[in-house]
Amino acid sequence: MKRTRLLALCLFPALIVPVVAQTPRGKSVPKKTAPTKPAASKVEFMPLEDARPVLLALNDAAPAELRAASDADLPAVWAKWTAKYDADIRARVTRGDEDSLVNFLFFGTTFTAAPRFTAPEIVELNAFLNQEPGKPVAEPESHKRVQTRIDDLLKAVAKPAGNERLLYLRQLLDQKGFKGVTDPVKLKAYVMDNVKRVLREQQSYGRAFAQASLLDPSDRLAEVSKIYKDRGLSSDTSIFPNYAIEAALKSMLERGWLKPGGVLRVGIVGPGLDFTDKQEGYDFYPQQTLQPFAVMDSLVRLGLSDAKTVRVTTLDISPAVNAHLEQARKRAEKGADYVVQLPYDTKLKTWSPEVVAYWEHFGDRIGGAAPPVVPPARNDAIKLRAAKFPPSAARAITPLGANIVLQRANFAPEEKFDIIVATNILVYYDVFEQCLALKNIETMLAPGGFLLSNNALLELPSSKMHSAGYVGTAYSNLPADGDFIIWYQKQ
Ligand SMILES: C[S@@+](CC[C@H](N)C(=O)[O-])C[C@H]1O[C@@H](n2cnc3c(N)ncnc32)[C@H](O)[C@@H]1O
Repeated sequence: MKRTRLLALCLFPALIVPVVAQTPRGKSVPKKTAPTKPAASKVEFMPLEDARPVLLALNDAAPAELRAASDADLPAVWAKWTAKYDADIRARVTRGDEDSLVNFLFFGTTFTAAPRFTAPEIVELNAFLNQEPGKPVAEPESHKRVQTRIDDLLKAVAKPAGNERLLYLRQLLDQKGFKGVTDPVKLKAYVMDNVKRVLREQQSYGRAFAQASLLDPSDRLAEVSKIYKDRGLSSDTSIFPNYAIEAALKSMLERGWLKPGGVLRVGIVGPGLDFTDKQEGYDFYPQQTLQPFAVMDSLVRLGLSDAKTVRVTTLDISPAVNAHLEQARKRAEKGADYVVQLPYDTKLKTWSPEVVAYWEHFGDRIGGAAPPVVPPARNDAIKLRAAKFPPSAARAITPLGANIVLQRANFAPEEKFDIIVATNILVYYDVFEQCLALKNIETMLAPGGFLLSNNALLELPSSKMHSAGYVGTAYSNLPADGDFIIWYQKQ
């Protein structure tokens, strides 16, 4: 394969150019007509021709087998590599599920009476479980508690009844070779190994974030934008990135990048599913996704879309996420609302006034308030809201299974997206994979369309995607608790 070295790679120039000085470039937004049917599409692997400029530009970062292939062999090697690499990436979904198992173990309240873990207790448990040789650490109370919780969890998983999280974990254990295994010693050792692994990883991510914080802002953003490149693929989701996306959409409207009524088709890459997330994990309400509903609601609030005509297509690698959205659609066909619970744990942190305001009106443009689920144990620190979305909202969402690093949906020109949202997903990949994903995203966008992401992405000279602006948002009183949302325009 003939290769060239890149002399200049332009990394998120929007962070260097003052955004206030920017005005929309490129073509004006064409007049929109309402989509008449959900996007019909076929998910397909990325052709070599689209990957070739990325391979040429990032030859040092490309996998060895692709680098070693001759021009004549490359098409066959590419086909083989994509199939194998797709399977490797999909295996990370299982590791993400094992991370969820651990979060559920620490924070779940539906399967045990033992108290939830606090952040200091998790640090203390890690010091004990992952102690350095020659530096013994006394057994903390939290070690006994985690064992009680494991016992309770394994008993509950053996009889999951109607608990969807327990049913899911039962499937995970079956998949990991524990089908029919009743030996508690083996099962407990498996769970404990995962507890140790997750705690070790959390410590090393903590160190990596601390090191990144010493860099200048643009290098820091580049570094943290791929910080989870080796981590299991988590489906965690929360209200926060949706607040940041609304702030970005508002800014894009005010600066003229988007026009009123200009957004009809929306893609959401990695919508997520709230199983029991690693920060605030709760399990007293059913699993839920937020982003597809939240983005629709924001678009209608800002006058960028009409609730009756906006269409959302989600693209996710996780079968659990896709099945959840399919189920929501099926229930909507029978007239069911989609209800989401919005807990605000005031003990963990104090949300910024803007996030509180967003939380208070979440869902009110396409849905309305609903009575929140009552937590099993009284907890005065948790404020709860719930929002319900009418069946029309879930019916406006079409879920597609896809691995965005290697796949895209093949849309007809009139079906392409006006905007694509991808938050907290590209951070799970290194620069090479991110460039492939960006190409796949580019092919699904209409000309002039935008990707909104909280990752700084490399803009190769061959890419039609160029950063055009950004907004910074603060979520709470905690330091560095916020996001930059960058918008990339397809030129
Ligand atoms: C951490 S969650 C983020 C959810 C949501 N976007 C948010 O910001 O709250 C990451 C999501 O991306 C999905 N995902 C990870 N890798 C993916 C890939 N290669 N292709 C498609 N989806 C992927 C996961 O299954 C999950 O739904």
